[in-house]
Amino acid sequence: MDDKQSKNPTLRSARWFRKDDLPGFVHRSTLAAAGWSREDLMTRPVIGILDTWSELNPCNLNLRALAEELRTGVLEAGGIPFEVPLMSISENIVKPTSFPLRNLLAMEVEETLRGYPFDAVVLLGGCDKTQPALLMGAASARMPFVFLASGPATPRSAGGGPLANATGVWRLVDQLRAGDSQCDFAAFERDVMGTVGHCAEMGTASSMSVICEALGVALPGSSLVPATDRRRSHFAREAGRRAVGLAASGGPRPEEILDARAFDNAITLLCAVGGSTNAIIHLLALAGRVGVPLSLDRFDAIARRVPLIANVQPAGEHLTERLMAAGGVPALLKTLAPLLHLDAPTVDGRTLGQIAEAATVLDPEVIRPLDKPVKPGETLVVVKGNLAPDGAVIKTCAADPKLRRHRGRAVVFEDVQTVADRIDDPALDIDEDSVLVLRNAGPVGAAMPEWGMLPLPRRLMERGVRDMLRISDARMSGTAYGAAVLHVSPEAAVGGPLALVRDGDVIELDVAQRRLHLCVSDEELARRREAWKPPPRRHVRGYRKLYDAQVEQAHRGCDFGFLRGADIDTLPEGLFDGWVGGW
Ligand code: FES
Repeated sequence: MDDKQSKNPTLRSARWFRKDDLPGFVHRSTLAAAGWSREDLMTRPVIGILDTWSELNPCNLNLRALAEELRTGVLEAGGIPFEVPLMSISENIVKPTSFPLRNLLAMEVEETLRGYPFDAVVLLGGCDKTQPALLMGAASARMPFVFLASGPATPRSAGGGPLANATGVWRLVDQLRAGDSQCDFAAFERDVMGTVGHCAEMGTASSMSVICEALGVALPGSSLVPATDRRRSHFAREAGRRAVGLAASGGPRPEEILDARAFDNAITLLCAVGGSTNAIIHLLALAGRVGVPLSLDRFDAIARRVPLIANVQPAGEHLTERLMAAGGVPALLKTLAPLLHLDAPTVDGRTLGQIAEAATVLDPEVIRPLDKPVKPGETLVVVKGNLAPDGAVIKTCAADPKLRRHRGRAVVFEDVQTVADRIDDPALDIDEDSVLVLRNAGPVGAAMPEWGMLPLPRRLMERGVRDMLRISDARMSGTAYGAAVLHVSPEAAVGGPLALVRDGDVIELDVAQRRLHLCVSDEELARRREAWKPPPRRHVRGYRKLYDAQVEQAHRGCDFGFLRGADIDTLPEGLFDGWVGGW
């Protein structure tokens, strides 16, 4: 950083440190205890390192080490690094579900960035919810940022068998339920999280990581480098240097990068990799934070023209390490170039088109040409109808194609416990054409856990059935698969039509027509609605009460309504700079 930049009076941190008044004295003297001199604080930009490391979260367990590398990069470029530990949301550990904590962490991020003297920030996330929460909070704070993911884990061969990963666990569970007792579950348990790092297939974490490159907020090629790979440290140092550059130039700021082009590019990449349906919810929420109008219809429109070109699980064969070896996200962008907004800016300083131009596809079996996709047809589809007036999604690339057009009798479960109690009951009236319906699992009903991949009845699995149509207002793990219509909106708990379905009702799904229809007359549905009573709200205090009252429906991204929008607040920034908030 040259002297002119370092003395840039427009730096946000100057409000704290570059004044010879009482607040300047208090702020500088406070941080003298952290080792920073008056000269440092008055001349150098301040970079936040927001870290979601936790011992409870192996997906993020390498973030402290990456923060050290980042610190080096910041110092090399002339900045002052401050690492800030944040809540860590461990997907497999948090009960009953991690989902509500996304908005809580996003609020923590936003208020941390607003309250502290950062000029730019690096966001360190890995597991499913930490990534979108960091993005949402930083976008709302309008703070220039670089996102760096923890990187995928490196799966090992479970007991000499195939590489153990989360999708493999789902398949193993299916095998066990189908009566195959040869499965070595113990070996999977030992090896499935064999190293630090997030899930190594195109689950939610990998989907959000690659999306960050397409959005333009992560360094090109950074997302898929394994968590244990030394190259990730190099990216960390570069991210630190880059953050200092963003501080010096004042941007680009999130709202200058996260525009409609960026979201189109992100959705295009999501479709091309057969990514997680959870990313749909997160992108809708993020768009709401920066005032970009984005609807489910836009996802469907883009999905119609984007083939599945990344041969990665769960829609394809390989893990993300092969995708990286094939050229990673830059090579995917090169292949997708005709479908992208190539003039979109990125934190790298180049446009997305310039990044794509410089890339090479190294393995055309893993990154396929547009005219030789891994599977034909769209990877995800948005359906609507009298059962989902505001829409629902289905990941068609991970479903049995013969269920794309289906008509069957509903078997309704009021909640997930009822599924566990009844699914293997010999008295349950069900066959392979039945439609499994789970309700009261939406954003308000149960904080939208990943229950959408309902288990199939054991007796049908033993007969070789491997997929059935399932419909719910829940989400589904990004590592899972199956013909699951998810995110039905509005959800049952707020009176959506899903609440009115009864056992034996006929349901029709027609993916080609984008139609999800409950074959019950309007008059009968009106009668049922008259008799419907909302389930009691379970939370009477604290954050979960706030969540229940404020969470929006899935088609709007499940954010809190009061966090949407582009306006920051009504108080001019710097209004109280002449005062000390406390000592
Ligand atoms: Fe953390 Fe999959 S459990 S990314």
